Amino acid sequence: MISAEKIPNNVNLSGNKRLQRALEHWQPKYIQWWRDMGPQGFQDYHQVYVRTAVSVDPEGWAHFEYVKLPEYRWGIFLADPVHDRRIGFGDFFGQPVWQEVPGEFRNQLRRLIVTQGDTEPASVEQQRLLGQRCPSLYDLRNLFQVNVEEGRHLWAMVYLLHSYFGRDGRDEAEELLERQSGNRDKPRILEAFNEPIDNWLDFFMFTMFTDRDGKSQLMSLSESSLDPLSRTTRFMLTEEAHHMFVGETGIARILERTCQLMKEAGFSEDVRKVGGIDIPTIQKHLNQWFSLSLDLHGSEVSSNAASYFANGLKGRAKEETFDEHVVRDAYYHMEYFENGKAVTKDVLMRNAMNEVLRDWYVGDCEAGVIRWNRILEHYGISDRLRLPDRKFNRNIGMYSGFHFDPHGVALTKDEWERRKFEWLPSQADSEYLLSIMAEPIYEPGKFANYIVPPRRGVNQQPIDFQYVRTEQ
Ligand SMILES: [Fe+2]
Ligand SMILES: [Fe+2]
Repeated sequence: MISAEKIPNNVNLSGNKRLQRALEHWQPKYIQWWRDMGPQGFQDYHQVYVRTAVSVDPEGWAHFEYVKLPEYRWGIFLADPVHDRRIGFGDFFGQPVWQEVPGEFRNQLRRLIVTQGDTEPASVEQQRLLGQRCPSLYDLRNLFQVNVEEGRHLWAMVYLLHSYFGRDGRDEAEELLERQSGNRDKPRILEAFNEPIDNWLDFFMFTMFTDRDGKSQLMSLSESSLDPLSRTTRFMLTEEAHHMFVGETGIARILERTCQLMKEAGFSEDVRKVGGIDIPTIQKHLNQWFSLSLDLHGSEVSSNAASYFANGLKGRAKEETFDEHVVRDAYYHMEYFENGKAVTKDVLMRNAMNEVLRDWYVGDCEAGVIRWNRILEHYGISDRLRLPDRKFNRNIGMYSGFHFDPHGVALTKDEWERRKFEWLPSQADSEYLLSIMAEPIYEPGKFANYIVPPRRGVNQQPIDFQYVRTEQ
């Protein structure tokens, strides 16, 4: 029996019998999926000190307790309604927002929700082996916090599918548990969510760059005219912020350790000899996850994006900061690639909405890289991390099928094949990372040699707190 206790919610679940029954039917399949595809080796005997959202107000956030992961209380929350909310962009600008799905946009909305929903369980699947290679209990706990919240994001999308899309929605909810990251026959929808994440450098880069794409997408969906979608995604953004915190501080802590080791070993020494992660390896992983995440924003020129905007389904990040919201005849000045040449060109703004969002995303990433570089500066190291040019390593949009180095200089296919592992992780890099992560660290307060401890613990607990414990 599903109750508010079992599924914390602010959608009056107990007052909606039809929805309650639908979710009761889906829940056991979800739990089975979590057991089969969730964190491997941490299902039955471990308790994790996690935060559970029990309401949307700030106090509802501060709820920490030890739970066994399959018993986590995945809840359904919508941010508070905005009084007299109006459509903020597109052809219906200024009209009241929708509480139900308009028939003519049903397919488009379903597609947007399914695509977003598919990424949530996918990342849990990608990260399922990391617990066995963790650098500390603190990091292990953060991994699981991210995982349970991605599970909750799946619940959020399944709630919308069950509530507003009838039979089709039910079928989609089932399929969200059937596709599998990296599966040849039934892969996840988007490419970056089929890449394995088997080491912690990838995990931190993923939470820095790919969860930030999640932020881009959620920001644009939170502008949606479909009010329940807007309110759901607005609440998800608060969790997304924590995922990016895990990524950004994870890389910062690795970088700081790298600097310490370089200093100790004498700056000319190869930091791998003393078990650290060298800056070029960090840069390669940055290149990989940034370029994959650029792809997630879609084609530069897109009639789908134009239609989502015109219909008021998906807006721009922070739509209220723009001067004009209908943008019927406005143009966007952007980089353009045609006849093998990079040029700049004015494109109808509605068709360029993916690129507008990508620009916002690149700026948000840039700020994080600047913060990382302060660490290098602080240690007197002259190397700097940088975002690769947006043409680099692209598989979607106008640059796909062409090759560029991280500065955006065009390469022939041969040159690319010969040189790509100067810029992207090679087999040898992966093997090295796995070799220093082979032994997990489960001792409270202890950290792997390649990473420094965090500045502070979780929820004001000490750094040597037992964030994950085995059952007594
Ligand atoms: Fe998510
Ligand atoms: Fe996330």
